[in-house]
Amino acid sequence: MAASTIKLLTIVLFLALISEGYGKCLLSDISVSQSRTGVMVEGKPEWSVSITNKCSCAQTNVILNCTGFRSAEKIDHSILIVSLLPRFCLVKPGQTINRDEVVSFKYAWDNQFSLNPISSESLCP
Ligand SMILES: *[C@@H]1O[C@H](CO)[C@@H](O)[C@H](O)[C@H]1NC(C)=O
Repeated sequence: MAASTIKLLTIVLFLALISEGYGKCLLSDISVSQSRTGVMVEGKPEWSVSITNKCSCAQTNVILNCTGFRSAEKIDHSILIVSLLPRFCLVKPGQTINRDEVVSFKYAWDNQFSLNPISSESLCP
């Protein structure tokens, strides 16, 4: 095989690796767990949410599906911003969530919301 062909193949392979998301985090690398704190806020149970970045890279712009989300308890805007309809939640807006970092907040409502991750941007080296 001519050297130029090998060079071309190498470039094509390299580009394919990039477009396949080599070195990217998966949505499943973001773990969301919730539990009841046992505290009542304005007559509604309080829930504690922990979001963990289980990817080996840092992540930013982590967005959760916040369909139906409401809270009787005020949530710190540096931890979570809830958009108007359709409901999306941005975790730690403008900040990086490092590997193994746990981001926590609490809300209060009659029912628990699922808060599944729907998008994130990985910051792999
Ligand atoms: C968000 O959650 C709602 C209710 O669980 C679901 O119907 C909807 O399809 C989800 N949206 C996305 C973008 O995953």
